[in-house]
Amino acid sequence: MGKLIKIQQKIKNFVKNNLKLTIFIIFVLIAIYTFISVEALHYTSSPKFCKNCHPENRAGLLGEVYTWQMTAHAKAGVECLDCHGKIGFFGYMKAKMGGLRDVYGEFFKTPEYKLEILRRSTEDTKYAAKLVPSETCLFCHSDSYNQKIRKERLMKIVFTMRMVDNVKNPEFRHSKGLTDILTEGLRQGASIDPKHSKHQEKGINCVDCHLGVVHGGQPVNKTKMQTCFDCHDKISPSKAPANENCKACHLTEESMIPKTPILFGRGASAVKFSHDTHASLVSCKDCHNKLFQMKKGSTKFTYDDHIKGRLCFDCHNGKKAFSWSSCKNCHDEIPAPKTSIVYKPKGIGQVEFSHDFHTSAFSCNDCHDKIWQMKKFSKRMTMDEMYKGKYCGKCHDGKSAFSSSDCDKCHK
Ligand code: HEC
Ligand code: HEC
Ligand code: HEC
Ligand code: HEC
Ligand code: HEC
Ligand code: HEC
Ligand code: HEC
Ligand code: HEC
Ligand code: HEC
Ligand code: HEC
Ligand code: HEC
Ligand code: HEC
Repeated sequence: MGKLIKIQQKIKNFVKNNLKLTIFIIFVLIAIYTFISVEALHYTSSPKFCKNCHPENRAGLLGEVYTWQMTAHAKAGVECLDCHGKIGFFGYMKAKMGGLRDVYGEFFKTPEYKLEILRRSTEDTKYAAKLVPSETCLFCHSDSYNQKIRKERLMKIVFTMRMVDNVKNPEFRHSKGLTDILTEGLRQGASIDPKHSKHQEKGINCVDCHLGVVHGGQPVNKTKMQTCFDCHDKISPSKAPANENCKACHLTEESMIPKTPILFGRGASAVKFSHDTHASLVSCKDCHNKLFQMKKGSTKFTYDDHIKGRLCFDCHNGKKAFSWSSCKNCHDEIPAPKTSIVYKPKGIGQVEFSHDFHTSAFSCNDCHDKIWQMKKFSKRMTMDEMYKGKYCGKCHDGKSAFSSSDCDKCHK
């Protein structure tokens, strides 16, 4: 106790004798304190800090830092709070306060609770838009919003807290080679024009189309055509272009050609159809929608289509393109017909021959072309021949398989 009083007395004397020095020291202390606080603010804003609690090294929940890292935004220096803090100094401070909720959640809530909160924004575009409103995106991506927001809000107090404080359009935009998405088109080479201003006027949020813009696990954010279609289909009476009106969105013909080959069937017998080759040889009209719908999986093929010159074989008949008899041009391995071959002899019930069943036990060359060509009804078969061990009777002799005189097993 006595010691404390002594120290107090000493300080009093010091202040009395060195008033100017004391004021100076106090200023220095305040400066150091402020510096440390600001550094703390900086540190707790950095992606490195966020990674402590959002630590996964894969796309998906809790992998937000990982996914951000690979994006064009990260490479341009756009960090977490540039999007996750509202624009302006107070928006930033509010985000820092919000961070306290994160910390509370981390220590006092279950991991499931955390995941549940995180999941919401990846599934619900309305919630995602609340998390990062369009205004935040437009601050960087359009001049009018940038200027309006700058006028309305206090941007910074001495210290630069994050990148957005420095974002002044059109200077920022130009320096990054960006266009004003509301007044100009997209950058050169773009093949889709989404008419940004039209959607903005209708109150549609950026994340309605750009969900996963930095957390989707891709370097750049490509919107899916289905996202456009789903919404446009719901609008009634529709002012949006019909899904079939390709040119309303696509600026170039090439962008409308599917890039990945379409696969029909499965396994080694599957057929690859490549738009690349065909689009350079014939026009869309030759196939769509005369022969095929513009929708993967809407066509079903039978072997009869080959023979009767339907679908692919409208061309692949040896006249307009190579003949379907060159099976290996399309199938690495020839498939067996999936539907049964039905024989309808007179005076007795029909017979169904199932490839599905027989190919599970035999290979093609057990029957082709030793007994039959690959062509149904190629020869008339009689029972007499079968009893003598020809055709079906080669196996259906009562030893390898049930006998040819077991009428009911074949004739229905
Ligand atoms: C101490 C751990 C911790 C740190 C550090 C942390 N977070 Fe979080 N974060 C959480 C938890 C826990 C949640 C779950 C929701 C809640 O309780 O707030 C969360 C949720 C979020 C959400 C979703 C909020 C919502 O309402 O859907 C965002 C966005 C977010 N964090 C961003 C960040 C950013 C940006 C940083 C770095 C500046 C960061 N977090 C640092 C623990 C943390
Ligand atoms: C360019 C803007 C942008 C940047 C930069 C950004 N985010 Fe996000 N963030 C979003 C948007 C938009 C969402 C809404 C959901 C979505 O699109 O995936 C979101 C969602 C989230 C969520 C909610 C859960 C989830 O996985 O969607 C978390 C957590 C999160 N961000 C953390 C971060 C962290 C940490 C960083 C920095 C490493 C960061 N974000 C950088 C725009 C951004
Ligand atoms: C701090 C400024 C800033 C903010 C905020 C911002 N962006 Fe960006 N954005 C950029 C910059 C800079 C680029 C250019 C990156 C490049 O291509 O070099 C960019 C590129 C993009 C691209 C094209 C590249 C890609 O990833 O596909 C899209 C799309 C985009 N931003 C959407 C958004 C959306 C949506 C939001 C809001 C959730 C947003 N941005 C918020 C600065 C920003
Ligand atoms: C109606 C859907 C839709 C909405 C809403 C939307 N975008 Fe886009 N955006 C697109 C499409 C489509 C592209 C072109 C992407 C491509 O080339 O695949 C694009 C491209 C971009 C680009 C890249 C521009 C370039 O020149 O490369 C930026 C930046 C961007 N959008 C920002 C935004 C922002 C910010 C918002 C919110 C104000 C927004 N978008 C709202 C569909 C949309
Ligand atoms: C959330 C709903 C929604 C989504 C998602 C959406 N749109 Fe739209 N779109 C609309 C509405 C509403 C209109 C009608 C605007 C009007 O009334 O003029 C429209 C109109 C359009 C128009 C016609 C604009 C004009 O010149 O009149 C184009 C082009 C368009 N959308 C492209 C796209 C593309 C490309 C996408 C996907 C990347 C997309 N839209 C996704 C709601 C949506
Ligand atoms: C409402 C706008 C819109 C309309 C209408 C539209 N598309 Fe698209 N389409 C898109 C968007 C957005 C993408 C994704 C762009 C990207 O990946 O960069 C896309 C992508 C594609 C792709 C590339 C995807 C792939 O499978 O490789 C093809 C092909 C395509 N569209 C064909 C068409 C055809 C054909 C039509 C007309 C029947 C059409 N689109 C009508 C918006 C539209
Ligand atoms: C030689 C015939 C042929 C030509 C020419 C052709 N297509 Fe296709 N297209 C197909 C077939 C086959 C499918 C798949 C149909 C199915 O699976 O039922 C298809 C599917 C599509 C799909 C849907 C893809 C998907 O993922 O759902 C689009 C889009 C498409 N075509 C666009 C075009 C455009 C644009 C052109 C002209 C540049 C074109 N096609 C020319 C045969 C053709
Ligand atoms: C409108 C006519 C047309 C239709 C329909 C058509 N093709 Fe072709 N296809 C051609 C022409 C022309 C060639 C090139 C000339 C040649 O090789 O005989 C070709 C070449 C091919 C080739 C060899 C080149 C390559 O892309 O590997 C394959 C395989 C092929 N077609 C498969 C198919 C399949 C599978 C279908 C049905 C889904 C189909 N084609 C429908 C006209 C057509
Ligand atoms: C121009 C390409 C092309 C050629 C050539 C071709 N096919 Fe096919 N074939 C197809 C396509 C496409 C399918 C549909 C794939 C599927 O559904 O498994 C198919 C399916 C089949 C099927 C299964 C039909 C069913 O019943 O489900 C059989 C059997 C078949 N092909 C046999 C042949 C034989 C035998 C040859 C030669 C004589 C041949 N194909 C030549 C394209 C071709
Ligand atoms: C147990 C004997 C047997 C086996 C094994 C067998 N087939 Fe056949 N296949 C037949 C018979 C029988 C016919 C019809 C011949 C007739 O009616 O003249 C036939 C006909 C066909 C046809 C023509 C179908 C039509 O509609 O014209 C094709 C294609 C075919 N087979 C492919 C195959 C392939 C590929 C395999 C091997 C994966 C195979 N078959 C294995 C017995 C067999
Ligand atoms: C290469 C030998 C072989 C040939 C050729 C053959 N079968 Fe078979 N089949 C079998 C064997 C083995 C079984 C199963 C054993 C049993 O049920 O006795 C079987 C079973 C069947 C069955 C009962 C299973 C089912 O699919 O419902 C029918 C029906 C049948 N065969 C019809 C025929 C007809 C019709 C022909 C001639 C067009 C034929 N088979 C030619 C070997 C053959
Ligand atoms: C292994 C299967 C099988 C069995 C068992 C079988 N049949 Fe047949 N039968 C056939 C097939 C396949 C045809 C059709 C041949 C054609 O149309 O080319 C046929 C055709 C016939 C025909 C018309 C052709 C002819 O030979 O006159 C008669 C009649 C007939 N069967 C009677 C019988 C009777 C009776 C029995 C029993 C004693 C019997 N079948 C057992 C497969 C079988």
